[in-house]
Amino acid sequence: MAEGRKNGLYSGISEELSALMRTGWADTERHELQPDEQAPYAAARRAALSARFPGERLVVPSGNLKVRSNDDTYPFRPYSGYVHMTGDQARDGALVLEPRADGGHDAYCFQLPRDSRNDDEFWTGAHAELWMGRRHSLAEAERVLGLPCRDVRTAAADLAGGAAVPTRIVRGVDPALEAAVSTDPERDAELEEALSDLRSVKDAWEIGELRKAVDATVRGFTDVVGELSRAVATSERWIEGTFFRRARLEGNAVGYGTICAAGEHATIMHWTDNDGPVRPGELLLLDAGVESRTLYTADVTRTLPIDGTFTPVQRKVYDAVYEAQEAGFAAVKPGAAYRDFHEAAQRHLAARLVEWGFIEGPAERAYELGLQRRFTMAGTGHMLGLDVHDCAQARTEEYVDGALEPGMVLTVEPGLYFQPDDLTVPEEWRGIGVRIEDDLLVTEDGHENLSGGLPRSADEVEAWLSRHAG
Ligand code: GLY
Ligand code: MN
Ligand code: MN
Repeated sequence: MAEGRKNGLYSGISEELSALMRTGWADTERHELQPDEQAPYAAARRAALSARFPGERLVVPSGNLKVRSNDDTYPFRPYSGYVHMTGDQARDGALVLEPRADGGHDAYCFQLPRDSRNDDEFWTGAHAELWMGRRHSLAEAERVLGLPCRDVRTAAADLAGGAAVPTRIVRGVDPALEAAVSTDPERDAELEEALSDLRSVKDAWEIGELRKAVDATVRGFTDVVGELSRAVATSERWIEGTFFRRARLEGNAVGYGTICAAGEHATIMHWTDNDGPVRPGELLLLDAGVESRTLYTADVTRTLPIDGTFTPVQRKVYDAVYEAQEAGFAAVKPGAAYRDFHEAAQRHLAARLVEWGFIEGPAERAYELGLQRRFTMAGTGHMLGLDVHDCAQARTEEYVDGALEPGMVLTVEPGLYFQPDDLTVPEEWRGIGVRIEDDLLVTEDGHENLSGGLPRSADEVEAWLSRHAG
């Protein structure tokens, strides 16, 4: 009799039960599966990666389950570089680009195959298919991904023999695989950098997915506006839950922890406790994004007067942020420096802060010294895609020191934050935080605001809230 697990209610598995479990199962191979529509796009992305590393073996793992406690795991999220290069979301996978003599590569994918019915693991293993859901067989994965697939359980041995083949692996994703291949950390970092660079211009398929994520996000914000009065009776959590329901229904989840910040919580950039009260007379800053089923995320912020009307001071702050965003939008076009939209928005905010007497002028001097940052805190945006802060490892000259190109998707998100304990501003301003954040696609002749379906100016926002009141 095999031993049972610690604190399990069964002391063991009898030979008879083991034999009983191994038989009587139907063949469930899914012969009807078709290639994923993303497959040709992923192949083109791999070709671009291949061109950067002739003669080298490249290993891009998807990652493993992380245990929360005992047999409970955190929700699995594959490494974005793996998703981008394969279109796959499986855990324990790894893409390999094997160098050819002609400088190109042959691609294949390691995958965790289906559980065999010939051992007890398929029904006793905490992370087995029977407990967590069916996986693709290797043949199914091959068809869906358009890539040869191999059993990942031999990956370490298969790759370890490659001392003669210069190899790079993305580090920090799959520790066991990383330990099995002998590589140089600096050269590995260049692979991660390249994977990040190659995500900066989105292909047509990715733009379609980002549109879906943003459209679902717009519906999530609409849900929230309809629930504001219930939030007043409960807490920020009601808003978070309302948005999350939309994210799970239409997408995979939220693409980052929802920031649901009422009143002075709006001045805390990464407020995700979301457990505070929602009070009439104050503002609600909601920064939330639906992540599509294919793992592309939106990142949108609206700041709403909870009782439907901005106070004069709230409106003053809101209008300044709105104008700064407009100035930023005007700088989003092909050929513009990436920094231009940030600088345009920050200059506008610096000028307003000087005008209000909160920082010393003249405005250009204040801007050059960065004095506005006491109240603007963060940069004005970032690339958006599979990660909310997409392309974060890209080469600086390709990203913040680069130029905008059609197909890039980025956020423009100026904000002003007056801390509740800031003695340099009048009391009435303290605890006010406003951010307006939209997701822009750079087009051939300018940009398209993908989240432009949401009301944005102060008047539009008030009209929107009044339509939903009562
Ligand atoms: N939600 C994170 C950000 O706006 O960058
Ligand atoms: Mn955001
Ligand atoms: Mn953002």
